[in-house]
Amino acid sequence: MDKRELIKMAFEAQKKAYVPYSKFRVGATVLMKDGSVYTGCNIEISSYSPTLCAERTAIFKAISEGSREIDTIVIVGDADPTYPCGVCRQVIREFGRDAKVIIASSVEKYREYTIDDLLPHSFGPEDLEENR
Ligand code: THU
Repeated sequence: MDKRELIKMAFEAQKKAYVPYSKFRVGATVLMKDGSVYTGCNIEISSYSPTLCAERTAIFKAISEGSREIDTIVIVGDADPTYPCGVCRQVIREFGRDAKVIIASSVEKYREYTIDDLLPHSFGPEDLEENR
């Protein structure tokens, strides 16, 4: 699936955002290395802390279906551009050490990053290997 299609899917997912409190809509698409594709939107909860970002909605859908490795994640949101929060960067890093992170304004206008661009000197699963 090409980047344009993944970006279009993120904009479609953004429309489904459940955001009665912030009114800030975010959509995400993840293309997994096995070829499967999942979308997500942000979901807000009245007690606030259970709120889930769009990126994690999409990634957790993938993980819960048994898919593990992120190839590409696309993020779109009401801010132009909308970058992933710190928690989502860590979650992307867990399942996408070499993931491409696309921050899109439109199907024509987007920027592409690596997880090392967004989360330098990161901690990850390999760091726990020696202690297992
Ligand atoms: N949000 C996301 O969905 N992804 C991010 O990476 C940044 C923030 C959501 C959470 C909340 O519903 C709203 O945007 C405002 O913070």
